[in-house]
Amino acid sequence: MKRHHKICFTFGVLALLAMTASAQQAADDAAKKIAANAGCFTCHSIKHVVSKDGVLPVGPAWQDVANQYRGKPGAADFLTRIVLEGSNPYASHWKNKAAGIAMPPNAVAISESDARQVVYWILSLN
Ligand code: HEC
Repeated sequence: MKRHHKICFTFGVLALLAMTASAQQAADDAAKKIAANAGCFTCHSIKHVVSKDGVLPVGPAWQDVANQYRGKPGAADFLTRIVLEGSNPYASHWKNKAAGIAMPPNAVAISESDARQVVYWILSLN
């Protein structure tokens, strides 16, 4: 009887983990789709890009953005603002990592809540 409970419990935990993982996967896919529809991938890749012959991507790879900002207080708010309003060409954050000097405002292509969702996803990348 005891053993049976243990097996049930283990199974329950595994089922819960599987459900959480697939919910997470669905959220990631949704964020990726929003980003694709908003044209983010014209300038960004998800995975870190190793530059060959000094050729840099237009915008920083989102894995690099995650590494830079993960765990920093206010990062999600800060990045959501930048995505919507664009970045300051006089204060590039990605010198020598991205070819673009600044990101244009994306507010025409993406809503604030969608931008936030994409930013949360970016920050979860590793
Ligand atoms: C026309 C090219 C272009 C498009 C389109 C674009 N970006 Fe960017 N993005 C850039 C560049 C260039 C930078 C680097 C700016 C800098 O050096 O401060 C950047 C930086 C960023 C950063 C890091 C900001 C920082 O200050 O470190 C995030 C996050 C980001 N982009 C997300 C997005 C999202 C989300 C979208 C789509 C809604 C998007 N970008 C669309 C070019 C682009």
